[in-house]
Amino acid sequence: MKKFVKLFALALAICTLLCCVGCVSDESTVKTYEDIKAAGKIVIATSPDFPPFESIEGGEVVGIEIDILNHIAKKWGITLDIQQVNFDAVLPGVQAGKYDVGVSGITIDEDRKKNADFTDPYFLAAQSIVVKVDSPIASKADLAGKNISVQTGTTAEKYCLSNNYNVSAFEANNDAFSALTSGKVDAWVVDNEVAVKMIEGDATVKMLDEAMTTEPYGFAFQKGSTDLAKHFSDEINAMIDDGTMKAIFDKYDVPYVSPKQ
Ligand code: ARG
Repeated sequence: MKKFVKLFALALAICTLLCCVGCVSDESTVKTYEDIKAAGKIVIATSPDFPPFESIEGGEVVGIEIDILNHIAKKWGITLDIQQVNFDAVLPGVQAGKYDVGVSGITIDEDRKKNADFTDPYFLAAQSIVVKVDSPIASKADLAGKNISVQTGTTAEKYCLSNNYNVSAFEANNDAFSALTSGKVDAWVVDNEVAVKMIEGDATVKMLDEAMTTEPYGFAFQKGSTDLAKHFSDEINAMIDDGTMKAIFDKYDVPYVSPKQ
C-alpha cells in the first residue's frame, strides 16, 4: 500500500513538473485582443530610422505606420506605448513577449513566419539600389564583386548575403546610407520608398529603377497570437477597402501599392 502511495506521489510530482514546463513556455505572454483592451494600451517596438514609415520629428516618432496604428488604437479606445529599438531587436523582442507588436516596415517572409505571427500585408514594397550619381553600377547584375551597405537584420542584408555580395551591415539605417555618401561602399540596398525619402534633396546619389524583390509589409506578434493578429488584420483590410490606407500614404506623398490585387 505504502509503495502505491509513493508511486502515486511520484506520478503527481511528474505531472506538476510537466505542467509547469508548459506554463513557463512562450505561450504565457501571448496577448489577445481582450488583454490589450483591458490594458488600455499596446506596447510597440519600432526602429524609427525608416522614413516615411517611422522616423523622429521634434522628438516624436511619426510616420505612415504610426498613423495606421493611431487609427486602429482610436477605434479600440487604447493608447500607443512606443518603444524605440534597433531594427535587429524588434523581432526578437516581440518573440520574447517584451513588446506586443513589431512595427518597423517589417517584410513578411517565410523564415520570419516560423518565429512570429503576422498580420495580412498592408503594402507592397521592394528592395532598391542606391548609388553615387556617377557610379558605373546601372543594374543588379553590376553589383557582383562590389561593396554594399545594408541595415543589420533586414531582408536587404539577407538578399545581399544570399547573392554572395560583399556586405557591410550597420545597426542604424542612416549609417548604411552614410557609408555610401562617404565612399566606403559602392551601393546601398534598402526598401524603395525609404530610399526615395532619404535621398530627397541629395544630388550626389541616385536610386536605380530596377526593383530587386517584392516585400509585403505587415505587423509582427509573438508566435501564437493568432487572435490579436486577426483583429489587426481585420482593421487593416477594412482600411484598405474603405480608402483610409491610401489616404495615409497620400499624406506622405507615397504612391500606394495595395497587396490586394
Ligand atoms: N523591410 C525590411 C525588412 O523587413 C527593412 C525594414 C527596416 N526597418 C526599419 N525600421 N529600419 O527587413
